[in-house]
Amino acid sequence: MKVGARPYFLAVAVCAVPWILLASRLTAQDAHFHNAPPPSYQLKNPYAGQPAAVAAGSRLYAMNCGSCHGIAGRGTGNIPSLSQGPTQSAPDGEVFWFITTGSVNNGMPSWGSLPEQKRWQIVAYLKSLKNSYGTQKSAQKTGSAPASMKPIKTNAPPPQPPYTDFRFEQPGKVRKITAQDLPAPYVTESASNGPQLVGRPQGAWPQAPAGFSVQQYTTGLDNPRLIRTAPNGDFFLAESSAGKIRVFRGITGDGKPEHAGVFATGLKQPYGIAFYPPGDNPQWMYVGDTDSVIRFPYQNGDLKASGPTQHIVDLPHGAGHWTRDVQFTSDGKKMFVAVGSASNVDDPDTTPDEKNRADILEFNPDGSGMRVYAYGIRNAGAGLAINPKTGELWCSVNERDGLGDNLVPDYITHVEESGFYGWPWWYIGSHQDPRHEGKHPELRDKVLVPDVLLQPHNASLEMTFYGGTQFPAEYQGDIFASEHGSWNRSVRAGYEVIRVPLHQTGRASGEYEDFVTGFVVDNGHVWGRPVGISVAHDGSLLVSDDGSNSIWRISYTDSDTSKSASARNHANHSTKSVSE
Ligand code: HEC
Repeated sequence: MKVGARPYFLAVAVCAVPWILLASRLTAQDAHFHNAPPPSYQLKNPYAGQPAAVAAGSRLYAMNCGSCHGIAGRGTGNIPSLSQGPTQSAPDGEVFWFITTGSVNNGMPSWGSLPEQKRWQIVAYLKSLKNSYGTQKSAQKTGSAPASMKPIKTNAPPPQPPYTDFRFEQPGKVRKITAQDLPAPYVTESASNGPQLVGRPQGAWPQAPAGFSVQQYTTGLDNPRLIRTAPNGDFFLAESSAGKIRVFRGITGDGKPEHAGVFATGLKQPYGIAFYPPGDNPQWMYVGDTDSVIRFPYQNGDLKASGPTQHIVDLPHGAGHWTRDVQFTSDGKKMFVAVGSASNVDDPDTTPDEKNRADILEFNPDGSGMRVYAYGIRNAGAGLAINPKTGELWCSVNERDGLGDNLVPDYITHVEESGFYGWPWWYIGSHQDPRHEGKHPELRDKVLVPDVLLQPHNASLEMTFYGGTQFPAEYQGDIFASEHGSWNRSVRAGYEVIRVPLHQTGRASGEYEDFVTGFVVDNGHVWGRPVGISVAHDGSLLVSDDGSNSIWRISYTDSDTSKSASARNHANHSTKSVSE
């Protein structure tokens, strides 16, 4: 083990910092257009308002942008309007920066290949489109839906069960997808449907099953991600893009923290948090900091890191999935670290960047002895958990994109040692990815079918086992997971918290249940996106949400309704309803 000298409090900002890091350190209050880095704010458009430039920009727009953003920037389907809304209220320099950078994962190409002059001409043209709606305040600042948010009507027919979408997600609704339900690849086109984030509309609130209530534990956070409960009951939250770990203690009568503080700053992109050794008396807090595992000295009750970080081990990193969840085996002998793929579906045989990625790696707690514990898991970096009853490792996985709306299901599964889960050549058992036709026939029969298949493109993130006693007994030992929702589905799904019942057996039956919903406004707009999830010592559930930058608390408040709620769920499950 190498003991690192990097002081934990050294603000990375003083060193050479990539723009992107600086940008993401901003709080929600002073958020820039798509997190544009501060220097771009000051860039002036040399052609602003010049008629010749506007005319040139108009032609460039028609050639390059109109197919997606519509005539005169009015927006089409799910692609945002540019003639109103944030593009009009953002400074020229930030729009220029965004066009240059793009948002490739959300379907907006990068236009850095167009000469600078042409990009400025496009900005001049876009700004000439300003109409009466254009000057509304940004939704995120006001905390309510802006008047300029044009509701998007979804004319798509209801989804065919077992698939669903946001229109039919409903707390308590049980679902089950099996390997036999998978459509062929490319039955539908690969959608580009990234959500536009808006403030929480008036009256919108997370919805939970009857008997449960939802409170806002805290808000105003900076891109909150994983949340984990320490052995003493304190909550630790990774604000990954800010390089920060926050700590919260206690829950007041009205569901707020009794204490909130910052445990550590100056990290790169912290995500996974694990306490070591397992048990009630940890000595260390381990953190998956994207390119390495580090640890802080930690004892119950610490609200600030009491010493510098120690470097434990470097991890594969670079492009692609950056979250690194960390867990220890119950006996403390081994450490698991999930490292997601560098790409959607590149072949590791020919892509050196994919080495030791799309894997769950195993180490000794001092970072030595690395081996691949399980492989072909596209990205479990956002959610590892140990089943406290069985000691088994479980994971929550984001599967691949680009094959159509209903492929490939995300999943939650227990992890077999040396198990192969298919990526990138196969998926969900013996389905071959058409992009890798004919490759690795010898692996065909080795591909494990995960325990619980989720809606494709749900973007399943953190998961946790419910060990509290507040929820009705039937919830004991069940899994809860946060579904962040993604862009690759024509009608969005996810944006919810789900429950995976283990039926007091420790085994999943393939079923899962919508548990907390209500974060989607329409097919173009969402206001909340669950990321992290953890069980508080009082038995309530805390859910972090990087859409509204909040933590929600779900508690069971009505002991009378549990029976009827559960009866209703099962009735729903057996009824084939067109509204599914
Ligand atoms: C293939 C479709 C596509 C093309 C072509 C395209 N865009 Fe986009 N654009 C998108 C999508 C999807 C988003 C939403 C991205 C997101 O949510 O992060 C977007 C977002 C934007 C935004 C931010 C809007 C907002 O309200 O947040 C701007 C500005 C923008 N595009 C400008 C352009 C310009 C200028 C061009 C042409 C040079 C262009 N786009 C071409 C798909 C496209």
